[in-house]
Amino acid sequence: MGKVTKAVIPAAGLGTRFLPFSKAVPKEMLPIVDRPVLQYIIEEAVDAGIEDILLVTSRHKKVIEDHFDRLLDLEASLEAKGRNKELKQIRDIANLAKLHFVRQGQALGLGHAIGIAKEHIGDEPFVVLLGDDIMHPKTGVLKGMIQAYEKHESSVVALMEVPQEEISSYGCAAVEEMNESLVDISDLVEKPAVADAPSNLAVMGRYLFTPAIFEEIEHTKPGVGGEIQITDAMLTLLKSEKILGYKFSEGRFDTGKKIDYLRAVVELALERPDIGEEFQEIIRNAASKR
Ligand code: UTP
Repeated sequence: MGKVTKAVIPAAGLGTRFLPFSKAVPKEMLPIVDRPVLQYIIEEAVDAGIEDILLVTSRHKKVIEDHFDRLLDLEASLEAKGRNKELKQIRDIANLAKLHFVRQGQALGLGHAIGIAKEHIGDEPFVVLLGDDIMHPKTGVLKGMIQAYEKHESSVVALMEVPQEEISSYGCAAVEEMNESLVDISDLVEKPAVADAPSNLAVMGRYLFTPAIFEEIEHTKPGVGGEIQITDAMLTLLKSEKILGYKFSEGRFDTGKKIDYLRAVVELALERPDIGEEFQEIIRNAASKR
């Protein structure tokens, strides 16, 4: 099978956990200092060698397209004022990758959102990056998953150990160890009760699929929460193909969840060379007053 060059980023969900903010502004556009969450995710894909990205959005999410488009009047104004740094920044955003957009008319679930990408992807392997999940560049998860695919030619998903009592919030995998970072997935359950969970390994925001997933999605009925779950489609894919798990342990931020969004802002802002030190002082002072 061919090289992995395409990505799908589903960003059409309702963002219920981030209301009321997400009523008018997509949660995927939440700022981490001065860049929206989605920009970090697209930069991660590009950094892993992806050239073509399909964003699945919805009627309420037009600002996403605007952010990654050219803005000629702003460019002209910055150029006239000699603001070359800002000019480069906004031009670079529009040139990150070949971006395409498609709409999911109704938020029928992650599996459904990925299924919409079928025509665009064609007969190629591809990656899926969830539009609200940031992976710190130091984790190298997506690159590692692509390398695993190149070696084993099978689908790969990112897995992270979570405390047992939290497993009910995730897709959970039963696995057999292969080596330090790779496991062979034998079973998958979406949001299991703690007592029924086969492990504490949770599926986390990055997937690499062979195109065979599309047929499985087409046959998947609504599952947990009435949504077409990608976990259910993966479960039927498991009957005909191997799915590997790529284990990692830290550096993931679920920015669709308020507290994890705040953690992302704090940790990523502290790393910024321009504001990190000053921000650290602010955090220290704020904490010492409590
Ligand atoms: P989430 O489950 O985190 O998003 O899906 P959500 O449904 O918006 O969240 P809540 O539970 O209501 O707060 C992970 C990613 O998949 C996208 C979301 O936009 C998010 O980036 N998604 C989810 C879709 O594109 N379509 C869907 O039908 C569901």
